[in-house]
Amino acid sequence: MEIGTDIEKISRFRLKKTDKFIENSFTGNEIAYSFKKTKPEEHLCGFFCAKEALLKTISPNNISLNSMEIIHDKKGKPEIKLLNGNNKGAKFKVSISHSDDYAIAVVAMTKNGKK
Ligand SMILES: CC(C)(COP(=O)(O)OP(=O)(O)OC[C@H]1O[C@@H](n2cnc3c(N)ncnc32)[C@H](O)[C@@H]1OP(=O)(O)O)[C@@H](O)C(=O)NCCC(=O)NCCS
Repeated sequence: MEIGTDIEKISRFRLKKTDKFIENSFTGNEIAYSFKKTKPEEHLCGFFCAKEALLKTISPNNISLNSMEIIHDKKGKPEIKLLNGNNKGAKFKVSISHSDDYAIAVVAMTKNGKK
């Protein structure tokens, strides 16, 4: 089992939809999901943590942030999915949480790359 985690300050993500950092780091679906919420920055920050956490589990980690996507099931439970490359379509377990100031995420992956 490989695990990865990341924590980031939410205020860093208080940006416009069209900001280059937002466009380069998130997919259209993630941007749409977050900007429907009262505090988009909380969700963007949690997604960013999830992506960084996934990079910590993968080696070599030359995957770009917007070539992975956080998706949610009907209950709101997230997973992280690879959109490109040899492992396109692979999904990994992720847990995300936000408080007032910080968001955190943990990703888990088995050695053979399956969730
Ligand atoms: C999911 C739950 C734990 C979130 O707790 P919270 O303290 O309000 O919020 P947190 O900041 O810790 O976590 C929010 C993140 O939890 C995740 N989450 C949401 N629903 C989830 C679920 N059913 N299972 C696991 N994770 C979930 C999401 O990633 C969410 O962030 P995102 O929308 O930006 O991706 C809480 O709503 C709960 O206990 N729900 C019960 C399960 C359920 O299905 N409830 C339906 C509503 S009645």
